[in-house]
Amino acid sequence: MTPHINAKQGDIAETVLLPGDPRRARWVAQSFLTDARLVNEVRGMEGWTGSWNGHPVTVHGTGMGMPSLSIYVNELIKQYGAKTLIRIGSCGGMQPHVKLREVVLAMATTHASAMNRSQFGHANFAPCADWSLLLGAAVAASKAGIATHIGNIYSSDVFYAEDAALDEQLTRHGILAVEMEAAELYTLAARHSCRALAVLTVSDHLKTHESLPPEARERSFGDMVQIALEAAFA
Ligand code: HPA
Repeated sequence: MTPHINAKQGDIAETVLLPGDPRRARWVAQSFLTDARLVNEVRGMEGWTGSWNGHPVTVHGTGMGMPSLSIYVNELIKQYGAKTLIRIGSCGGMQPHVKLREVVLAMATTHASAMNRSQFGHANFAPCADWSLLLGAAVAASKAGIATHIGNIYSSDVFYAEDAALDEQLTRHGILAVEMEAAELYTLAARHSCRALAVLTVSDHLKTHESLPPEARERSFGDMVQIALEAAFA
């Protein structure tokens, strides 16, 4: 039991999928896992544990942004022994060739996180994905014929950013997409010798201003879950 998770010891699997939205955690558990049961609902942040192809798996919401994700991931790793943590979420495309519905695998994350500064001082830590998960996800996406981009992303502290010059520099330097959680996930995984990956669907686009309708988001979400589960047990 922790301040934010009231699951019993043993209720959380070593492999944890991390959607931002707690209702997505429920949907993933009910759609992909067998014998899924609710193991946490403190503050409405649901966690579910079941199994996939015989492997124990937990799906737990993180909320939005790095401070919220950090609370859950710290507790999942330190109190419950999570070892493989895969974020499944959405992102905003930042390159013309990164289209709506396509998948982005975050090989590395650029960020301006104050949380990171407090840990590393003047050094710029480069949060990166676990190689075995990244490889497993790339293979799974390719086998399923899902259009996928692999590279650097930007983990932002603000959704409603107003710095057009920064967006331009990030795009110019090949940043594929923006989201708000992966840098902290990768940093915590590095700190505690865990494996982490962010599998993201492009739900909106900063250049074209298009966005996915809700039904299409659900379908793309299923693709990400499949990729994440196959990568976890590759
Ligand atoms: N900005 C930040 N986070 C996001 C976005 C965005 O445009 N889309 C999905 N997550």
